[in-house]
Amino acid sequence: MLTDSIRATIRTLPIDGNAAKLPGRRQAIRGSMPHMPHMQLRREQPADHDAVRAVHLAAFGDHGQMIADLVSDLRRSVTTDRGLSLIAEHDGATVGHVMFTPSLLDAPRRLVCVEVLSPLGVLPTWQGRGVGSALVREGLRLITAQSPPVVFVEGDPRYYVRFGFTAGHTLGYRRPSL
Ligand SMILES: CC(C)(COP(=O)(O)OP(=O)(O)OC[C@H]1O[C@@H](n2cnc3c(N)ncnc32)[C@H](O)[C@@H]1OP(=O)(O)O)[C@@H](O)C(=O)NCCC(=O)NCCS
Repeated sequence: MLTDSIRATIRTLPIDGNAAKLPGRRQAIRGSMPHMPHMQLRREQPADHDAVRAVHLAAFGDHGQMIADLVSDLRRSVTTDRGLSLIAEHDGATVGHVMFTPSLLDAPRRLVCVEVLSPLGVLPTWQGRGVGSALVREGLRLITAQSPPVVFVEGDPRYYVRFGFTAGHTLGYRRPSL
């Protein structure tokens, strides 16, 4: 299980149709990482499922099994026009993965379809080299094309604030589990 402190932190990124306003946009990496020429970012294919599972098993340690199973469940909600599953590949080996999946926001008068970034994992030997940041930035660029009104992420604000996420409660959002 994720810790309570991680669960308690909800971040949102309002997407207003002007992607240029996204912080970090200028550093967005499209498909490759210039400082790592053999690194490619691409959409996950069925043949990648085992490698993606291995990434999360290694990245999340004791929670790896749960996260890997979560990915298998969430993957069913990713379609061509909703959600996103993106991998970072180095010389043909999968070293990182990020997933965005559609979810419903319970707004006062209607349910609004939003996107949720989760999970994000990078193989331990590849952490701290910009792979996670590249996956988040490229993922946000691609998911913006689907025009979701908002993207939520539950995670450490020290990491996600750099991508432009803002504390959900400051924008009036409440956690689903009150
Ligand atoms: C979190 C994770 C995805 C980051 O990927 P990464 O490729 O190592 O990250 P990057 O190289 O792009 O960025 C490194 C920066 O993120 C920071 N960072 C990494 N993990 C962090 C964390 N859990 N909390 C806060 N900051 C973190 C580093 O301190 C570094 O900061 P700096 O740029 O100021 O030096 C990766 O460390 C990972 O897979 N961790 C285990 C799984 C996990 O916790 N996933 C996130 C769930 S919310």
